[in-house]
Amino acid sequence: MAGDSLEMGIQNRMGKKQHVTIVHDNNMHDKSFIELVKRYHDIKMVDIESLCAEDFIQSLLIIVQVNLTDPKILRPLKRKMALPEREHIPVLFLLDDFNRREIVQSNILGATDYIAYPCPDSNFIEIMADLVNHAVEKSWAKLSKIQEAALKVSLKVVENTFSNAAKGLEIAQHEVKDSCDLIIEATAKDGLNNWMNAIRQHHNYTYRHSMMVCGYLTSFGMLLGVKKSDLQLLAMGGMMHDIGKAMTPLDILDKPAKLTPTEWKVMQEHPKNCRLILSVEQWDDDMIDIATHHHERLDGTGYPDALEGSKVSDLARMTAIADMFSGLVDKRSYKPSMSAEKAIEIMLETEGQLDIPLVKAFRSVVLSGEDKILAFQK
Ligand SMILES: [Fe+2]
Ligand SMILES: [Fe+2]
Repeated sequence: MAGDSLEMGIQNRMGKKQHVTIVHDNNMHDKSFIELVKRYHDIKMVDIESLCAEDFIQSLLIIVQVNLTDPKILRPLKRKMALPEREHIPVLFLLDDFNRREIVQSNILGATDYIAYPCPDSNFIEIMADLVNHAVEKSWAKLSKIQEAALKVSLKVVENTFSNAAKGLEIAQHEVKDSCDLIIEATAKDGLNNWMNAIRQHHNYTYRHSMMVCGYLTSFGMLLGVKKSDLQLLAMGGMMHDIGKAMTPLDILDKPAKLTPTEWKVMQEHPKNCRLILSVEQWDDDMIDIATHHHERLDGTGYPDALEGSKVSDLARMTAIADMFSGLVDKRSYKPSMSAEKAIEIMLETEGQLDIPLVKAFRSVVLSGEDKILAFQK
């Protein structure tokens, strides 16, 4: 991901989580987009008078929905849009009529983009994601060179692998390996925090989650002192562990609500699909094990093979821990993010399912001193 900080990435200088600011007036507009924004981001509503420099500093994106034909609104808005703090923040104008006058006004005011609203949800989500991701990627310039390269390259690789797998095309194994080598180098040199926090705002949950599990497993492997080849295996396994989701229908994969029991059954097919995809391409057996068995539980209640106890490998145990942690701390449209402390607490209560000594070791990956994941603190 997606990115806030270390007072890097997109978390700002104060270490506060950034939000989307919605600038409104007292006119009647269709406000249904607000629920769409809330699916992905925290929001702050402000009127034009109270919009201030701090709002720009704290924002990932500003959405303006006001009457652009009213001079009483235009004057103060123009002043606020000229603030120096606004310069690098994308501003999206929602236009009521999409007429020439509105378009000219929004350009004069410095809109990064504009869209006629109401519009189909998918169009709105797409334009919002583009603007936010552009801002997120810009913020990556504040990372170290190696972290920025690791993020850019590996995110592209994740996108390509999912896209190719969905189309039944071959996944370039060497690209996955090369990008994981960059992640290992970046993590070894500069730690996990900065780049992991920087990925957190990426709009695509599956990509973000794959990158997060990759990062946690890399750091976990380093903490346990595993050899280089195993570290590569863990990083690559983390990146590819959910590749089977490329075969999951998007309306289930990206559903902005809890899955129904039937949808959940379809979702649970993904480890089997991981095995299918990776076996056909003759990936390393350990990689296939990681991807196929990261939902197995030691008491045999997991899937797809209901493996028990010693039949669950160390690699699958480690991946199950990184996977569950990432799922708990990440924000979804239907659930808020959880603090790292709380997530570990919950995982320690899964006696019989997760490997508890390993969870305790993992705790220091995400909670100890320097490597504390600041963005997960609530
Ligand atoms: Fe999974
Ligand atoms: Fe996962």
